[in-house]
Amino acid sequence: MKGIILAGGSGSRLSPLTKVICKQLLPIYDKPLIYYPLSVLMLSGIRDILMITTPKDLDAFKELFKDGRHLGLNISYAIQEKPKGIPEAFIIGEKFIDGKPVCLILGDNIFYGEGIPAYLKEISSLQNGACLFGYYVKDPERYGVAELDKQGKVRSIEEKPKQPKSNYAITGLYYYDKQVVEFAKSLQPSKRGELEITDLNAIYLQKEQLRLEILGRGVAWLDTGTHESLHDASKFVEVIESRQGLKIACIEEIAYLMKYINQEQFVSLIEDYPQSQYRAYLQSILTRECV
Ligand code: G1P
Repeated sequence: MKGIILAGGSGSRLSPLTKVICKQLLPIYDKPLIYYPLSVLMLSGIRDILMITTPKDLDAFKELFKDGRHLGLNISYAIQEKPKGIPEAFIIGEKFIDGKPVCLILGDNIFYGEGIPAYLKEISSLQNGACLFGYYVKDPERYGVAELDKQGKVRSIEEKPKQPKSNYAITGLYYYDKQVVEFAKSLQPSKRGELEITDLNAIYLQKEQLRLEILGRGVAWLDTGTHESLHDASKFVEVIESRQGLKIACIEEIAYLMKYINQEQFVSLIEDYPQSQYRAYLQSILTRECV
């Protein structure tokens, strides 16, 4: 399975924070926001990754991740010229996808919770149809919202409805089979001039090829769309990390523990870091007991 991280958009809702730095590179406590969705792909076993970003931000992403080899990944880059909607990622990424199933994660989505890696690994074997994730929120009108029947099957999905038919928001993590490129190409821009992910999902729904998995209470799906939620996400990460002394979304640690890189490569990653708390943490992994 291939992975795409979409890190486009103008981040206008977070202005002036995003005036010169794009949203996905803003800090969430001790690391850039994009580390969190990248870690989700890595934990799912996805190593062939396309990062789609804006022309303005491309160099910063390349500087941060290079070709990914140091993390045991294969990272390539593409540009979304204008924010023309999430499904455009599949049109831009057609060559990269190369007729394979693909997982798309939005570059500003944070997921945290026991069991997520194992769960995602299972879904990564998807060959047919689409799989989305629903999460109970108090403000569904800010998201794509699923209407469910009594058996929990999806009846409809609406994008930012004024009167949501449920509290289940659709998260920014999507798995699709190889039909996705063709379906994305068939979409027409909505009233706001963008291709809508909800319209793409509606095609799968109509064909009865859409599966929705509900992420339960034990999972945190954190939002970064407002100044408050961005700050809350940082606080959340700080609380967990300070309590455990273990980091969330530490991509070097994940690469090492998932055996994408060996000990020698891990040590050389550590040596590339300046003296810092982050470096000291990486160093401690070599001698700590297995967690
Ligand atoms: C996008 C999607 C929406 C989804 C959300 C998840 O909204 O359009 O369906 O629920 O991501 O983060 P946006 O964040 O672009 O407003």
